[in-house]
Amino acid sequence: MWRAARRGLKALARDGGVVPSPNIWYFPDVYELENRAQDVDGEIWRVLGEEAPWAGRDVLDVGCGDGFHLPKFAADARTVMGVEPHEPLVRKATNRLDGLANVRVLAGSAQRIPVPDASVDVVHARTAYFFGPGCEPGLREADRILRPGGALVIVDLDATAEPYGRWMRADLPHYDPPAVENFFARKGFRHRRVDTRWRFRTRAELESVLKIEFSPEIAARAIEDVLRVNAFGEDGYTVPVGYRVHVREKPTGLVLPGHSSSSSESISPRML
Ligand SMILES: C[S@@+](CC[C@H](N)C(=O)[O-])C[C@H]1O[C@@H](n2cnc3c(N)ncnc32)[C@H](O)[C@@H]1O
Repeated sequence: MWRAARRGLKALARDGGVVPSPNIWYFPDVYELENRAQDVDGEIWRVLGEEAPWAGRDVLDVGCGDGFHLPKFAADARTVMGVEPHEPLVRKATNRLDGLANVRVLAGSAQRIPVPDASVDVVHARTAYFFGPGCEPGLREADRILRPGGALVIVDLDATAEPYGRWMRADLPHYDPPAVENFFARKGFRHRRVDTRWRFRTRAELESVLKIEFSPEIAARAIEDVLRVNAFGEDGYTVPVGYRVHVREKPTGLVLPGHSSSSSESISPRML
């Protein structure tokens, strides 16, 4: 299953458009456990709050999957939109949000977000689509929908951080972390590394999650590594996982006549 999913991923990524996510597409229940286990200390949320505060603002979570992160944004944001290309996940996210008045889920993709120009303050993407070179169409689309001064914030795994990054690199030998970080730096993003802990209540949960994230061989190695450190598992099983948070604000300069707000060619008043 894992290999077939990887082949499908490559084929569809080649065609452009949607990037299949074998973990959440084929194993949504296990992915739910994974999301619950992630970032138990709230470190990513803390950094997001510092870099792109969302209280009272209009937030859009692109590649929102089954909407796991939407309620957290909705607690303080003015409005929240989840955008997701995979139809079964659009339905799941919609069901999750039943009763939350300020949240909507829309079918769409990072390259085509079904909202007007300059209508959002924070665009958030977590382990979705913005994986490095190749995501330029999504960067342009985020610029189009952001209000001047609004922020695009991309959260992804840090493949340089031990031990999770070592398992990632073993499964993705061609993945080049410095190239990815340089790409975002060239595109004008600042970035922060975030140390988190994933915590699983049981060994069965730990194993099921690592098995949807890695090939059988690497999953077996990862499980062994975790069990060695968490020998007794009395408080559950903890895994250190590093993330990168990349942030870029849309310039607040004036837009030249004849240029749409999606153009990056804005100028500041001082340049007039
Ligand atoms: C690993 S999941 C993460 C889901 C969610 N952000 C979370 O943290 O729970 C990646 C998500 O990106 C979605 N995705 C794939 N291609 C996309 C695209 N072109 N634009 C936006 N989202 C995409 C997948 O369908 C999947 O739901």
